[in-house]
Amino acid sequence: MKFAILSRNTKLYSTRRLVEAAREHGHSVRTLDPLRCYMHISSDGFAMRYKSRPISGYHVVIPRIGASVTRYGSAVLRQFELMGTLSPNPSDAILRARDKLRSHQMLAAHGIGMPVTVFGDNPDDTADLLAMLGPPPHVIKLNEGTQGAGVMLTEKVSASRGVIEALRGLYAQFLVQEFIPEAKGADLRCFVVGSKVVAAMKRQAPMGDFRSNLHRGGSAKGVKATLAEQEVAIRAARVLGLGVAGVDLIRSRRGPLVLEVNASPGLEGIEDASGVDVAGEIITYAAKRHKLRAAKRLAAKG
Ligand SMILES: Nc1ncnc2c1ncn2[C@@H]1O[C@H](COP(=O)(O)OP(=O)(O)OP(=O)(O)O)[C@@H](O)[C@H]1O
Ligand SMILES: [Mg+2]
Repeated sequence: MKFAILSRNTKLYSTRRLVEAAREHGHSVRTLDPLRCYMHISSDGFAMRYKSRPISGYHVVIPRIGASVTRYGSAVLRQFELMGTLSPNPSDAILRARDKLRSHQMLAAHGIGMPVTVFGDNPDDTADLLAMLGPPPHVIKLNEGTQGAGVMLTEKVSASRGVIEALRGLYAQFLVQEFIPEAKGADLRCFVVGSKVVAAMKRQAPMGDFRSNLHRGGSAKGVKATLAEQEVAIRAARVLGLGVAGVDLIRSRRGPLVLEVNASPGLEGIEDASGVDVAGEIITYAAKRHKLRAAKRLAAKG
């Protein structure tokens, strides 16, 4: 099959591993920078070009679209879809996952456990917003935050109010959550491919921090997720429509709680910690999905 990897940088670990795995499985593969793909859109059909040459005939595209290029990247991905290429993560699903408020609402609507979350717009509502959440400690998270950088813990309501006022002054978007102390500074990354958790790792915060992000000095080790954790992770990915997802959970007294569903999860940490060929799993799954779809189309015609 003919594979494309949509990625801005061929040197990134995840990109390299996907290219390697596609070749190992006997596919042809090319990495395309989404920002160099340009599109022709008309009611007669869709076309795309790359560095003055047509892009066509790709059976599968694996998107590795960074948060900073979500808009253009997902338009390119949609163009691929309109031209008949299969993506294990459709453009609409990526947009859903990237919108934190929307994905929290969708997951909760499907009964998936998560820390109780509030958000609001007007400063006049802050006191009542916090009252609605309940007593501190509170976790305040920047919407654009990542790698733990925009995540704060406040022990008193006055501190929550102060942080929120400061963030509003900077025009930042954020949400506020109940703090789950039982998580004890650990979270669990479940790597979902199709209807399986193919690998999982536990990340532990360094002493004195509650954030387990590796970029904050956390450590990771491969673990086996419990059946309940696997089930929640698989359902969370499915609710958002993602075939490939990194689902972050914390362990709480009321069961696994979803923190985030990542539509472009990195491969390095999880392959290192688990020893699983996650890239190979993604390629196998995408090729299988493409075959199934082709067979269905043929049957519908016949
Ligand atoms: N409500 C909570 N209760 C306890 N610990 C939490 C809570 N929310 C987050 N944490 C801890 O803080 C870490 C960082 O939070 P989170 O994963 O939500 O933000 P991020 O990593 O910066 O962003 P994202 O994962 O969305 O890219 C988590 O991995 C977890 O260890
Ligand atoms: Mg995180």
